[in-house]
Amino acid sequence: MAYKVLFVCLGNICRSPSAENIMNHLIKEAGLEAKIICDSAGTSGYHIGASPDRRMSAAAAKRGIELLGHSRKLKSSDLANFDLILAMDRENYRDILYLDREGKYEDKVALMCQFAKNHSAKEVPDPYYGGQAGFDNVIDLLLDSCEGLLEYIVNSEAYLSQD
Ligand code: 4NP
Repeated sequence: MAYKVLFVCLGNICRSPSAENIMNHLIKEAGLEAKIICDSAGTSGYHIGASPDRRMSAAAAKRGIELLGHSRKLKSSDLANFDLILAMDRENYRDILYLDREGKYEDKVALMCQFAKNHSAKEVPDPYYGGQAGFDNVIDLLLDSCEGLLEYIVNSEAYLSQD
């Protein structure tokens, strides 16, 4: 079974689809498509079914990454079904754990920025109501964080013990 990673933000049209597609790009480069599977979701249902935000897609395209997928809402079963769940900011983190009423899955949930090596930001800022520079910043931060995340995953016990 592949190792399953879920990226979570508020709307699932800006930050988490970017993280998912950047991570898939790195996974493909490393030839690990059969070993690591990525998905993304939003804590809100504001944009269910929508494609990634056009401004986010423009920022990703500058780095040669196409944003695929459609927004979906995070559900309780995601906590059981994924091996690792990455929150873009602290509010997302709290909202994910809100679904974990019995406190069974806390160890699976982490903040995305903790994997960044070249950025000191603690959260991936919500770019939705700002200008294009905010979207470019999200891509920079996520490229850095996804590189660190991939390194972390391929050295983790859960990944190494896959059959
Ligand atoms: P995301 O960005 O959480 O990175 O997808 C947002 C998208 C939509 C809204 C807020 C943030 N909104 O308020 O509709």
